[in-house]
Amino acid sequence: MKTNQTMLAESVPSLDQVRENGSDASAKIAFYLPTGNEVDLCIHAYRSRIPLMLKGPTGCGKTRFMEHMARRIGRELITVSCNEDTSATDLLGRHLIRGGDTVWTDGPVTRAVRTGAILYLDEIAEARADAIVVIHSLTDHRREIFLDRTGESIQASDDFMVVISYNPGYQRSLRELKPSTRQRFASITFGYPNEREEIRIVAHEAEIDAATAKKLVGIATKIRQLTELSLLESVSTRLLIAAGKLIASGIPPRAACIAAIAEPLDDEAETIAAIRQLIEISI
Ligand SMILES: Nc1ncnc2c1ncn2[C@@H]1O[C@H](COP(=O)(O)OP(=O)(O)O)[C@@H](O)[C@H]1O
Ligand SMILES: [Mg+2]
Repeated sequence: MKTNQTMLAESVPSLDQVRENGSDASAKIAFYLPTGNEVDLCIHAYRSRIPLMLKGPTGCGKTRFMEHMARRIGRELITVSCNEDTSATDLLGRHLIRGGDTVWTDGPVTRAVRTGAILYLDEIAEARADAIVVIHSLTDHRREIFLDRTGESIQASDDFMVVISYNPGYQRSLRELKPSTRQRFASITFGYPNEREEIRIVAHEAEIDAATAKKLVGIATKIRQLTELSLLESVSTRLLIAAGKLIASGIPPRAACIAAIAEPLDDEAETIAAIRQLIEISI
C-alpha cells in the first residue's frame, strides 16, 4: 500500500508534464528561469513537508518563483505581505459583524490550512511577534493551528505548505528572526541572477531585444560593484525590467534608466549623479 507521502511525491508534475497538460495550463504558469537548484529543492521540501524560507534582496524573483512553483505543484498560492502591523488575528481570522450577527471569518493562514494551499508569508520578519508565533505550531510535527477565539484546532492536510520570505540585508528591519523560528525551515538563498540569465529574464519580461537587455544588465552589474555608493539595497532585476518596459513603450533609453534605475535607488543628489553618469556612458 502506498503511503500518503509517496502518492504526494508522484503527484508533483515535472515542468514538461505541466506543459503537456495543454495550452491553457502552460499559458497560466508564470515564467521563471531557475538560477540554481531551487526548483528541485522546493519540490522535495513540498514532498517531505519541510517548510521553506526564501532569503534575499527585494526584486530578485522570490515571489515569481513561488507563483511558478505553486502552479507546478498544483496548489493554490495564498500570499500574505507582512508589515509591522500584521498580527495573529490578521493571519488567523476574526469575528465580523454582518447584518446584526457576529460571523467568524477565516484569515489567510486559516484558509490555507483548511484548503491545503501553499501559504507564502512575504517579509515575515516585519510581522508582530504574536503573528510569528502562529507559524510555530504549523512548522513542526503538529502542523496545526489553534483558534482561541472559537476554540477550534485545525490540522493541516498533507497538501499544505508554509513558505516564508526574509530579507537579511534590509537595514530598516533590524528585527532578526529568532533561531527558534529559523530552525524550522529549509532555506534557499536568492541573489541577483548571473548576467546571461538576467539578460534573458529582462528581455522576456520587458519584451525588449537582447541587445537592449544586455545594456541594462551591464548598468546593473556596474552599480552592484560600486559599493562606495553605500546603497540601502542595490539595483534589482525588477528595476531593470521597469527600465526595459519604459524603453519598449517609447521613453528614450537614458531617461528610462534615470527614472527606473537611478531615482528609485536613493535620494542623495550625489549618489543619483554618480549613477546617472554611469548610465550615460552605458546606454
Ligand atoms: N529567475 C527569474 N525568472 C523569471 N523572472 C524573474 C526572475 N527573477 C526575477 N524575475 C522578474 O523580476 C520581477 C521581480 O521579482 P519578484 O519575484 O517580485 O521579487 P521578490 O519577490 O524577490 O521581491 C518578477 O516580477 C519577474 O518579472
Ligand atoms: Mg516579493
